Amino acid sequence: MSDLLDGFYPYRTSSHTFTTIEDVGRDRAEVLAEVAAMADREDAMGRAGLVSGSLYSGDHEHYAYLAQVFALYAHANILQRDMSPSATKFEAEIVAMALDLLHGDPAAGACGVVTSGGSESLVTALFTYREQAVRERGVAVPNVVMPVTAHVALDKGAHWMGIEVRHAPLADDFRVDVAAMADLIDDQTICLVGSAGNYPHGLIDPIVELAALALDHGIGMHVDGCLGGFLLPWAEQLGYDLPRWDFRVPGVTSISADTHKYGYALKGTSTLLYSSPELRHNQYFTYPDWPGGLYLSPGLAGSRSGGLVASTWAALVTTGADAYRSAAAEIFATAAVIRAGVEATPGLEVIGDPTFLIAFKAAAQGPDGGDPVDIYLVNDALKEAGWRLNSLQLPPALHFCVTRPNTAPGLADRFVADLGRAVRYAADNRGTPAASGAMYGFGGTPQGNETINGLMVAVLDAMHAVAPTD
Ligand SMILES: Cc1ncc(COP(=O)(O)O)c(C=O)c1O
Repeated sequence: MSDLLDGFYPYRTSSHTFTTIEDVGRDRAEVLAEVAAMADREDAMGRAGLVSGSLYSGDHEHYAYLAQVFALYAHANILQRDMSPSATKFEAEIVAMALDLLHGDPAAGACGVVTSGGSESLVTALFTYREQAVRERGVAVPNVVMPVTAHVALDKGAHWMGIEVRHAPLADDFRVDVAAMADLIDDQTICLVGSAGNYPHGLIDPIVELAALALDHGIGMHVDGCLGGFLLPWAEQLGYDLPRWDFRVPGVTSISADTHKYGYALKGTSTLLYSSPELRHNQYFTYPDWPGGLYLSPGLAGSRSGGLVASTWAALVTTGADAYRSAAAEIFATAAVIRAGVEATPGLEVIGDPTFLIAFKAAAQGPDGGDPVDIYLVNDALKEAGWRLNSLQLPPALHFCVTRPNTAPGLADRFVADLGRAVRYAADNRGTPAASGAMYGFGGTPQGNETINGLMVAVLDAMHAVAPTD
């Protein structure tokens, strides 16, 4: 436990620990310097372009500018729209721009909301479809049918709302098996979900087929474009041959697309877009009988900072389509180098047919023709070389989600060279337990899952420790 705490809370020993609000406040400049030092240290890996996903723009002038815009409204609570009419402008225009990008037609009723991030968008979408199913079809035991690769925030939301999740397996191309999705649907299914692209492998599910299935059953289809929503459309405009997945596809009734990922906004916003206002009404909550007054709320949040909607709007309008397209071109080109590098590395195998997020696993044979390498040992060696990839499981794999910081000249080639060395390290150290991703090995059996759940609870406790008072 102490090791875990040291890992998540190193500052408990290296800086002054506050456990009470002291009578006299600290010097502002001193506090700013302390926070700046922590931020600078923690940003180093991302600045160097060695991190998969997570940091999407990497342009610190852009961040500083957005922070200036944020500061103008940081204190404003946009719940009070009489005081913050600009928030209505910012949100309306963020939604309009997102709909335009994803071919939603406001004249036909397409609309949306701004949320705090991808997870809130997904959980809200589930809520919307559950409400719709209960109101319109009297569904009593709701279930949602989605690929195993759909984002786990949906599982979390379903858990919170008592919705059964029916996971469909993948086909040989690692996209969801449409026939398996069809088999899981019944009269209690509230909606189908597909991703563009999904978090584990970055692949776009067969949305055209899934949406047709949804139409056949008279249910909605949510596309999780949290990751790809602000990237894939620009790539399509550049001529990349991508399958259709947005509102042009008949049967797609909602899309989540995160502004705080490839929209290059500050962290804390996403869009949830609907094909009709009637569908959006399901997420509204109105309560006329509260002693506190008439309560009307579009979603989960109560008070919200005006800074986030203002700075997200500013990110979209100052970046502009040309810069989004050229960033997408660089990201796709960098990902192609990484994909080719993985394909050329004996002992590894690319998962599916990816474009911007390259997932790979151990091939059936190691680089020396022997047993497959342990992909988590590969990750250990990559970590040693400074890279931060994401570990996957079922099957064990790694992914590199390419973002702007990774597109710096030479970085992709450096990665490929480091990857070759990492695979040789894994081959030379077969049988050694890997330090990274080792927890995944426990999963898949009831006993293993119990152990790993216990470990995960301990990790959460360590991340949310109360500062020590001694
Ligand atoms: C496909 C996909 N959906 C949803 C999410 C969740 O987004 P957030 O972390 O903003 O809650 C992610 C995050 O990476 C994602 O990749």
